[in-house]
Amino acid sequence: MKLVTRMFKFTRSQFLRQFAIGLICVFMIAACGPSGEEATETTEGASPETTATTLTVATEPAFPPFESQAEGGGYEGFDIDLMNAIGEAAGFTVEFQSLPFDGIIPALQAGTVDAAISAMTITAERSQTVDFSRPYFKAGLAIAVPEANTDITSLEDLESKRIAVQIGTTGADQAAEISGATVSTFDSAPLALQELANGNADAVINDAPVTLYAIQSGNISDIKVVGELVTEEFYGIALPKGSPNLETINSGLATILEDGTYDEIYQKWFGDDPPELPEEAPLE
Ligand code: ARG
Repeated sequence: MKLVTRMFKFTRSQFLRQFAIGLICVFMIAACGPSGEEATETTEGASPETTATTLTVATEPAFPPFESQAEGGGYEGFDIDLMNAIGEAAGFTVEFQSLPFDGIIPALQAGTVDAAISAMTITAERSQTVDFSRPYFKAGLAIAVPEANTDITSLEDLESKRIAVQIGTTGADQAAEISGATVSTFDSAPLALQELANGNADAVINDAPVTLYAIQSGNISDIKVVGELVTEEFYGIALPKGSPNLETINSGLATILEDGTYDEIYQKWFGDDPPELPEEAPLE
């Protein structure tokens, strides 16, 4: 009987001790948990209920130097650094998701991703289905031809020629307007450029910085760029129509344009000072 009482007492004090430790743990977790972080990371003007702290951002990562798969995993490029810097400035973290380029707008429309950064040109047509951030890069299309070619120097010279493009791009739109041309579409820009290098196409219409980078980095040989910047285009970060994250992303972008972070990232990938950017893309 005595033994039983002692055992009971022992168990009760043990229980009380465990309970006290448990209480302390709960208190500590609450103090360091995500709710504390959210409060400090929320940007001015963005409401915490509508702005997620992690955004899923789609990209088609075969478009260096804007986005490519890094050796040893993950992604790298101008867009990747830019998006992470915007997140840092605006108080969210970025989770990149690889998608085919022509699947990005449908994914935004379906709401399966929060945003997309993929060297995507702001166009009037796309603006009907998605929202764009303010322009973050000035680019344009270039025509690439075999090194030895002398008769193609402009879009007009492409009539009735074989043109390779990446599917769903502004380059593909441009090629579709050329009369008599045979257009072959590829899942990525490097594949279209390879088709040209192999002699199976007469020209590639693609974003100038990407084609120039492919030539300079030695990723593709025996081709050259003619008619550089046959169009003027501005890249924007795309979001689902009416997304509450548009304001957050624009304010983060404004911050890094102002504090020198944007210039640093531009220097890192293009070895040059960035050109002036308009606050809005001029659309036809
Ligand atoms: N700027 C062009 C467009 O918007 C091509 C973009 C392709 N981007 C990519 N990551 N593959 O159509």
